[in-house]
Amino acid sequence: MNRQVAGVRGVAALLPDAAAAWTRVEERARAWLWAYGFQEIRLPVLERTELYARAVGEVTDIVEKEMYTFLDRNGDSLSLRPEGTAGCVRAGIEAGLFHHQTQRLWYLGPMFRHERPQKGRYRQFHQLGVEAYGMAGPDIEAELVALGERLLGAFGVKARLLINSLGTPECRSRYRAALVAYLEGHAAALDEDSRRRMARNPLRVLDSKNPEMAEVLASAPRIADFWNEDARAHFDGFSERLRALGVRYEVAPRLVRGLDYYSHTVFEWVAEDLGAQATVCAGGRYDGLVGELGGAPTPAAGFALGLERLMALARDLPAGRALDVFVMTPAALNARALTLAESLRDAGLGVEVHLGGASPKSQMKRAQQSGARCLARIEETGVVLRGPGDSESHVAWSDAAERITTSLGARNETS
Ligand code: HAM
Repeated sequence: MNRQVAGVRGVAALLPDAAAAWTRVEERARAWLWAYGFQEIRLPVLERTELYARAVGEVTDIVEKEMYTFLDRNGDSLSLRPEGTAGCVRAGIEAGLFHHQTQRLWYLGPMFRHERPQKGRYRQFHQLGVEAYGMAGPDIEAELVALGERLLGAFGVKARLLINSLGTPECRSRYRAALVAYLEGHAAALDEDSRRRMARNPLRVLDSKNPEMAEVLASAPRIADFWNEDARAHFDGFSERLRALGVRYEVAPRLVRGLDYYSHTVFEWVAEDLGAQATVCAGGRYDGLVGELGGAPTPAAGFALGLERLMALARDLPAGRALDVFVMTPAALNARALTLAESLRDAGLGVEVHLGGASPKSQMKRAQQSGARCLARIEETGVVLRGPGDSESHVAWSDAAERITTSLGARNETS
């Protein structure tokens, strides 16, 4: 036998059972997105590398270490998208979507980050992202959180909501100075990465995943002490609305998020039973980004839900529609089986025909695995039907389609 080609580490196929579950989850999620007035946007997987350097930030884990970047045949540096917000803003600016109008957009698809794979962390993973443009007040953030709660609740996911504010750019520059002063005072306790970041992007030191840094970071100044009136009013407005909506939250003073584009509100849902990779959904406000990427200044906020993590946590997955009929047949009668299947499909039923020429025993095994409500065995003399229920009957060939359709009740998902 020839040597097999291995798949890429951290990049998995979704096998049929999983894919079917994902599709049903996506359908339920779509219904909630519709209920909140969001419209789908389908974004490309490839963008210019510069987009992420400018949007996510040069000095972030994503851009420094995790992107799949390559030169294409024209010599342009391109990257597989590590997240969806930057591409959504880029596409929206190019298409003029943000001119004097609000937008509520969502997307779903694969993202790519060269992280160390472990449970809940993959190199190709999927996000359901939601982005709202043109709304400056905290109302939209509260509405986004309500939507996030619905999406998690729809699948029985239990997660704590953490919220914080990064304030305005003015608050951040004062905070930055205080943080640098603190970090300089503790330079000996910092690892090499953090010392480098301290000079270029000190807030990112707070994202350090090095456990040895936890202690020194725990006593670092808190951004809330640097909020100005604007920042405080925005945060108070946001948390008041959450309370009015009955959403439970915890204020997390050290939550800064790992991407540079946020201002004001940031939030994350952290699940209890997901181990180290516990953040299932995360986002915040990013008012500066549209302007930063060459558009007119536009307020914006959004979040992204990690679908692998959602699937790992989901307790309540919607049931799929089982196949209606499984047709077993000796190879010599395949043509009859195909004809019967076509008339059943005309009536809106889902039908699988066993065309593998297997023994009756293995056909029956496959038929039972299929979960079909009715099994039909083609014989020279007619058709043997079993189900719904355990009843078995022998019907004439010419009556078979009608008998099956009547006993199952016609359904028409295909037309
Ligand atoms: P993020 O926090 O980088 O934010 O990712 C959002 C979610 O994607 C995470 O909470 C997690 O569930 C999932 N995720 C991230 N990396 C991985 C991975 N390697 N394997 C599995 N799941 C992963 C963003 O991407 C922002 N664009 C969110 C946003 C939208 N902010 C505003 N709008």
